[in-house]
Amino acid sequence: MRIIRTRDYNHMSEHAAAVIAAQLTLQPNSTLGLATGSTPLGAYVRLVEMCAAGKISFAQVQSYNLDEYRGLTHDDPQSYHHFMWENLFSRVDIDVTRTHVPDGSNEDAASTCANYDAAIEAAGGIDLQLLGIGNNGHIGFNEPGDEFVVGTHCVDLTESTIKANSRLFESIDEVPRQAYTLGIGAIMHARRILVIASGTAKADAVHAMCYGPVTPACPASVLQLHPDCIVIADAAALSAC
Ligand code: F6R
Repeated sequence: MRIIRTRDYNHMSEHAAAVIAAQLTLQPNSTLGLATGSTPLGAYVRLVEMCAAGKISFAQVQSYNLDEYRGLTHDDPQSYHHFMWENLFSRVDIDVTRTHVPDGSNEDAASTCANYDAAIEAAGGIDLQLLGIGNNGHIGFNEPGDEFVVGTHCVDLTESTIKANSRLFESIDEVPRQAYTLGIGAIMHARRILVIASGTAKADAVHAMCYGPVTPACPASVLQLHPDCIVIADAAALSAC
C-alpha cells in the first residue's frame, strides 16, 4: 500500500484525477471501476475539465460501478446510476453503452449479481478500481461482518451507513435498506486500486485500513493484501495514523 498525504480535499482530488488521467493516457481502453459518494466528486470535476481540454479521452473506456441501491430505478435522482450520469458520464466523451451500474430495479438479486460478475469477467476484469471508504471501513457496500464476501451480492446496509447516507435524502426513512455491491473478489482482482479519503470522520477507518489487522470487521483492511494499492488521503483523514 502506498499512502500519499495531501493537504485537503482539493489537493486529494487533484492527485486522484492525475492518477486516473495517467491510467487513461497509458491505456486508453482501460476498464475502470468507479465509485459514487462525496469523495470522488472533486476528482470527477477535474477529469471533466481535462477531457474538455482534450488532455484525456474516455472514448475507449468501459466502466463498472461498485454499487447501487436495491429498489431504485436508473432514473431515480437518488440512484447511483443517476449520480454517475450527472457527475461524469454526461460530461465526458464516454460511450454510455459501455458504462455499467448494477441494476437496482431488478428485484431478482441472484441473477442481478451473477450477471454483473459475469460481465466484469467477460470484460477481462478491472484495470483501475476507484474506491471511497465508509466511516465504518466499508468499501463498495461491503459492510463490516464475519467474512469477506467474494462475489457481487445484495447487502443489508448497516445503521451507520444508512445514517451517513441520509444526508443525501430528505429523511432517513427514504434511504434504501439494501444495495447490490461488487464483492471483495472483483475489487481485489482489479490490477490497480486507488482509494481516496478526506475528513476526520474517516480517520479511524483509514487507520484500520492501513495499519489494523486484516479482518472482515474492517473490509477495507483486505486492501493491505493488494500488490498495487494507492491511498490518497488528506491530512484530516490521516490524522489517526
Ligand atoms: C460508493 C461506495 C461507498 C463510498 C463510501 C464513502 O459507490 O461504494 O463505499 O465510497 O460510502 O462515501 P463518501 O465518499 O460519500 O464519504
